[in-house]
Amino acid sequence: MHKPLSTLRDRKAPTKDFRKAAHEIAAILSKEALRRVRKEKVHASRTVVLVPILRAGLALLPAFLEKFPEASVGFIGLKRNEKTLKPKAYYQNIPKISKSDKVIVLDPMLATGGSAVAGIRALVEAGAQEKNITFVGVISAPEGLEKLQTNFPLVDMLIAVHDEKLDKNGYIVPGLGDFGDRYFGT
Ligand code: PRP
Ligand code: URA
Repeated sequence: MHKPLSTLRDRKAPTKDFRKAAHEIAAILSKEALRRVRKEKVHASRTVVLVPILRAGLALLPAFLEKFPEASVGFIGLKRNEKTLKPKAYYQNIPKISKSDKVIVLDPMLATGGSAVAGIRALVEAGAQEKNITFVGVISAPEGLEKLQTNFPLVDMLIAVHDEKLDKNGYIVPGLGDFGDRYFGT
């Protein structure tokens, strides 16, 4: 059976297969996100804001746009410094967010959690309520989960798999390598 997660983990998978597998997982995550939003009784077509964290979060966006066709979209550009592992903000375009809006943050990798926390902080500053935010990821490390939960205990998390640990370079183990590089073929 074809398993998208095994394809993502396979460092030899070509870009085309990696993208296809990423989109398959995004479809599953978006379906679950829609189910959660409906359960929360938030009016899905009017009050959802999707926020991919650039670059890698863009891989999840098409599937979420399909499930939330009326959503507005904001962008947060963050790049992790490979030595310090701290995220550097390089772009931000966040639409007006009101208190009751449902905000869905898209970023496939939750490693140290620095990027997720910085992104969510920017959204809270822009008016989002912590309890109305869902963080969507593909793979998490325990360090990232803990950091996110400590900083934003009310944020809902929707993550496909929880991996074991981080290596000394801050990469998730077993993980999949650098998601952005593999998805964008760089
Ligand atoms: C990756 C990933 C997350 C971040 C996770 O992005 O997409 O945003 O690292 O790491 P953290 O939890 O330790 O912050 P990266 O900074 O490599 O940028 P990219 O998406 O442009 O490749
Ligand atoms: N970013 C990635 O793309 N992969 C990791 O394992 C950690 C951060």
